[in-house]
Amino acid sequence: MRLTELPTPQVLVDSTRLAANLDKMQLAASAHGLSLRPHAKTHKSPAIARQQIERGAVGICCAKVGEAEVFAAEGIEDIRLPYPVHPTNASRVLRLMESTRVSIIVDHEAVARAWAQVMQRAGRTLDVLVKVDVGFHRCGIDPSGPDAAGFVRSVGMLDGLRLRGLLSHAGHAYLAGSEQELRRIAADEANTLAALARDSGIALEELSVGATPTARFSLGEKTLTEIRPGNYAYFDRTQVALGAARYEDCALTVLARVVSRPSRDRVILDCGSKTLSSDGARGFQPTPGYGVALQDLESSEPDGGLLIERLSEEHATVRVVNGVSNLEPGNLVRVLPNHSCVVSNLVDCIRIVDGSAVVETLPVAARGKIW
Ligand SMILES: Cc1ncc(COP(=O)(O)O)c(C=O)c1O
Repeated sequence: MRLTELPTPQVLVDSTRLAANLDKMQLAASAHGLSLRPHAKTHKSPAIARQQIERGAVGICCAKVGEAEVFAAEGIEDIRLPYPVHPTNASRVLRLMESTRVSIIVDHEAVARAWAQVMQRAGRTLDVLVKVDVGFHRCGIDPSGPDAAGFVRSVGMLDGLRLRGLLSHAGHAYLAGSEQELRRIAADEANTLAALARDSGIALEELSVGATPTARFSLGEKTLTEIRPGNYAYFDRTQVALGAARYEDCALTVLARVVSRPSRDRVILDCGSKTLSSDGARGFQPTPGYGVALQDLESSEPDGGLLIERLSEEHATVRVVNGVSNLEPGNLVRVLPNHSCVVSNLVDCIRIVDGSAVVETLPVAARGKIW
């Protein structure tokens, strides 16, 4: 089937770019002696997770137990949940542990104790890592707090838990204003984990970091053992604007159709917030809008002429920035979205394409698994 025969909108993933992205990150991680454990939040696809593992990934990450259940049922044998999973999920986690190696994070004394009790009662041992807040200020213990090393030691002493190491996510890297700032965030992150590991006085096997914008800098940090980028599989407009990818690396695009052409400077597409999400882009420079449209279906590089300025649920309002576009209702465009992870979460399946040929349809099997 040709992609021009597909009903629209459709989420397309270019097979060559996907393979190249997976290869490149794996080769880089391996060359630096680091384990790669991709976050599966980007593709939510067991088939793509298998491609990552075949290339050398040590396992995957998921956020929610429901996502992990999907991947475990498809034979993924090592799943890390770098999410503060609450012990109310204990029975499901115990079940998961029967078919796959599971690890979670802890950042709270009472929660860590509750997990330890559950595991003792079940006669099991759960692998855990202490989550450290390296500046994103979401989850994680404060590494400069007076009790940070004490907390790590106390988790290490809990029967029922096996403390594997420390883990962080530098989500604040998405707000960086320059390459230098990203480099500094990656270095600070590695140094923070290494210092806390040292202060704890325990021999920790793993220091795990992960975010796509910092991945290229984390590679050179000798104290780390693992990186967990996720977005690198597809990349998106934000990663280009943060210097993590080139336009020609972006594997995920949205095939959309022009449904109205109200004026010279306005084009309406059939992909609204239900397809693209309402996520804005991040970048070193202001990166306005909800994505850019590529008028030439074969091109990678947006010419800057078609900016998605506004979204309704089923409409994208595109501004023709330079006033020249001959798009008419019925014409197809490809949209490079701001954030590929949320786009794949919105569709039941993605179409794998090779040039203009649709070569496979893959279910986004773990999408929508929010508990
Ligand atoms: C805990 C954690 N680790 C790793 C990642 C992957 O980061 P990225 O999406 O930048 O690849 C995320 C993304 O949200 C995350 O929350």
